[in-house]
Amino acid sequence: MPTMSRVADLRGKTAVVTGGAGGIGQALGRRFGRAGMKVVLADVLAEPLREATRALADEGIEAAGVVTDVTDYTSVEALADAARDRFGGVHVVCNNAGTGAVSEGYLWEHDLADWRWGIDVNVLGVIHGIKAFVPILLEAGEGHLINTCSGNGGFAPIARGAMGGPATAVYPMTKAAVLCLTESLYTHLEMTGTRVRAHVLFPGGFLNTGIWESWRHRPDRYAATQQRRTPETTLAGVVDRFEAAGAHVEFTPLDTVADLVIDGIAAERFWMMGPPTAADQVVSKKAASILARGEPDYLVDVLVQHAESTSDEGGRP
Ligand SMILES: NC(=O)c1ccc[n+]([C@@H]2O[C@H](COP(=O)([O-])OP(=O)(O)OC[C@H]3O[C@@H](n4cnc5c(N)ncnc54)[C@H](O)[C@@H]3O)[C@@H](O)[C@H]2O)c1
Repeated sequence: MPTMSRVADLRGKTAVVTGGAGGIGQALGRRFGRAGMKVVLADVLAEPLREATRALADEGIEAAGVVTDVTDYTSVEALADAARDRFGGVHVVCNNAGTGAVSEGYLWEHDLADWRWGIDVNVLGVIHGIKAFVPILLEAGEGHLINTCSGNGGFAPIARGAMGGPATAVYPMTKAAVLCLTESLYTHLEMTGTRVRAHVLFPGGFLNTGIWESWRHRPDRYAATQQRRTPETTLAGVVDRFEAAGAHVEFTPLDTVADLVIDGIAAERFWMMGPPTAADQVVSKKAASILARGEPDYLVDVLVQHAESTSDEGGRP
């Protein structure tokens, strides 16, 4: 495999991060900036995006914010144009924008509007990012495209939530798709002989970000079509439920996630993940189940998982 950019090579180059107005995206932007990169943050939320961009600029990072809706290909193309116009090229792209895609009840009861919203942002958004940016990376001749996945779906779906009832199937389905897309992309890039690489990021741990309360910014076009029977999720409520189930909740610093990406680029690591945790057992159990043509006994039960470990990744976004 050819040698790629190392961290030092990133200096002076440009990173584009979708979902950059907060959470993991902003942390990635800051980390890229501190590595000497120019940074384009993209998000659908204009005001938080402005604040996030200003925070980076206040640190001396050359940063630009571009309001972007990843569900709209024209908007993502405009982001690519803006990044090139402003900084002359693009070398690292993080398809990181995401929505919590929570839906209540059993899978067959989920609101179709929840499916559409989750699929449009988490899957189509990534496809749009690939289509708009890979040709630019190919033109540059080197670079990295990083898609944000999750153990919830990337490994196996969380089937049962912290209250013991069914957990949303929307989110894990979209993240399973993100892994599949990234695997295909990796192969297709390799087939062309390019030095451009695809990576998949599993943020890991319990992260204090906006994803738990995505419903606060739900666009009208995805308005619920069914009457909700339960209150919307809040991070405080999730923490309470985990603690009531005997699990101690400790948030992983977002800088740790950003380090996975920087280190993963330097090491040319496809799987951008932290050190092994109990969640890895889901992967081996799943492989064993497939090979044995057995029952899917690896499916994640968040309560059981927390009884086993409080530092794994599989039970949350
Ligand atoms: N927080 C976790 O525990 C966790 C764990 C694993 C994976 N992830 C993934 O990490 C990524 C970042 O999420 P986060 O946890 O930082 O949450 P977050 O809500 O803080 O960040 C997501 C960002 O995406 C933006 N976004 C939503 N819809 C968009 C659209 N249509 N166009 C452009 N931007 C849009 C939001 O405005 C928000 O700023 C997501 O893909 C999420 O699924 C999060």
